[in-house]
Amino acid sequence: MSGRSAVGLARLVRDQEVAGSNPVAPICFPDLFSGAGVLKVTENNAAITLKPLISQVEIKQRVRELAKEISRDYAGANRDLVVVGILKGAWIFLADLVRELTVPAKIDFMTVSSYGASTKSLGVVKIILDLKCSIAGKDVLVVEDIIDTGLTLKYIIENLSLRHPRSLKLCVLLDKPARRQVKIEPDYRGFVVPDCFVVGYGVDFAERFRHLPYIGYIEEIKE
Ligand code: IMP
Ligand code: MG
Repeated sequence: MSGRSAVGLARLVRDQEVAGSNPVAPICFPDLFSGAGVLKVTENNAAITLKPLISQVEIKQRVRELAKEISRDYAGANRDLVVVGILKGAWIFLADLVRELTVPAKIDFMTVSSYGASTKSLGVVKIILDLKCSIAGKDVLVVEDIIDTGLTLKYIIENLSLRHPRSLKLCVLLDKPARRQVKIEPDYRGFVVPDCFVVGYGVDFAERFRHLPYIGYIEEIKE
């Protein structure tokens, strides 16, 4: 494993997980809940080093600001807001965001599959779990954890727009513009992040680290 960058390796492991052949066994880590300092996790023989990037306090503050902006934009008797969370990554962000809204909202969810390595450039996305409600005539706000290449969200937005919502907007917690492959801009964004592999606050590395209350990035994976 050594010799490959942390971000490259993290993406490789994620793609293997999608393909059902993830070689990394479950990990055990006793000390994840400190946002301060470097976190070293040993998994089998691999040592994963996480570094904090965005603290709990910064996230809370920014989520509050976003909710204020969204509440202002969707205020008015003729609005019918449906917040659509993209599982699993958006669940913590969505839960915090909607509790700060001051306008009525309905909540629904979608689960989409990530594309595997071979279909990556095509942006092939499959809907695993679809919305329960019709969004025809509604004001839809899609909430996602992170926009990276933009392929997933481009598919989702195109798919939802065919269902005739009255309006359709996009809110992401994290934006990684350096990796964008398609033209798509979030209407609301929490933070711009550099091209690193981030985890925490709902965002995973092969299903790990979603429960961290802060955002960190994988600095190193070493065997
Ligand atoms: P896309 O490349 O914009 O289509 O992003 C697809 C999905 O990849 C996102 O919804 C995330 O679930 C995941 N992803 C992208 N970048 C990262 C990262 O840095 N850490 C963890 N997951 C990521
Ligand atoms: Mg996601």
